[in-house]
Amino acid sequence: MINVKSITGCLIIKGSGMTSLRAFSNLEVVKYDKDLCPGSFINFEKYMVLISAYIAAILVSDNMLLRYLGMPKLRKVRKFNNNKICLKIQITAGFSGMRLIFNPSVCLFEEENNRLLNTEKFVNFHVDICDPTRTYCRLDIEQGIFNEANLPTGCQVLEYVLLLNYTKPTEELQYKLNSIEEIWGALIITNTDLTSISFPKLNKIYNTALQFPTILVQNNTLLKSISFPEMKV
Ligand SMILES: *[C@@H]1O[C@H](CO)[C@@H](O)[C@H](O)[C@H]1NC(C)=O
Ligand SMILES: *[C@@H]1O[C@H](CO)[C@@H](O)[C@H](O)[C@H]1NC(C)=O
Repeated sequence: MINVKSITGCLIIKGSGMTSLRAFSNLEVVKYDKDLCPGSFINFEKYMVLISAYIAAILVSDNMLLRYLGMPKLRKVRKFNNNKICLKIQITAGFSGMRLIFNPSVCLFEEENNRLLNTEKFVNFHVDICDPTRTYCRLDIEQGIFNEANLPTGCQVLEYVLLLNYTKPTEELQYKLNSIEEIWGALIITNTDLTSISFPKLNKIYNTALQFPTILVQNNTLLKSISFPEMKV
């Protein structure tokens, strides 16, 4: 394994006793090919609340002892282009690149996490950042969506979607938004009575959410101004 640089098919590491994935330390690219991955239709019975079937190029799940990833070269995780079968799957279920879920002991270094966020559709449930230099916020429930009521104060990185739906304007809400620099999910603002809203530090949204567009601002009849002065497109 140690010499493997590229995998076409998929990589599933589920329920293992491994403490790191250093066995894949030279892996650079995983190209998902449905025909080579019959086992990748996975039904998470407990998590039907999301979508019943997920397809992932890399699935790392339920590895109780996994502490570190140790895949320093992994840069590309994507589905095969021009694959008709793949397109058909996408309609019925969400495709993700790497799904890193239910590994209770793992942490990701910031550099590592940023690298993986730049691959296609990286999904990361409840993974801690090792030695964090910023305030990362997530909710206790799996892929909990932030809203005006449950959003903590002082978050710099939201680890999932922020949804403001039927929200009333308050100073407290704007104060909570002032610190946000990144969102790993999506930003959805719908049906609110907000008249103005600003995200003074928000500079990146990584769309890791399967069911939402990256930014959706819709039916906010009183909204006159919305600003993202730091956003990089
Ligand atoms: C907003 O709230 C309404 C009413 O509760 C709900 O039907 C709708 O799905 C919500 N929008 C989103 C994007 O969740
Ligand atoms: C638009 O938002 C208002 C609340 O501001 C709501 O009453 C109305 O039902 C919404 N319309 C649609 C089409 O969702």
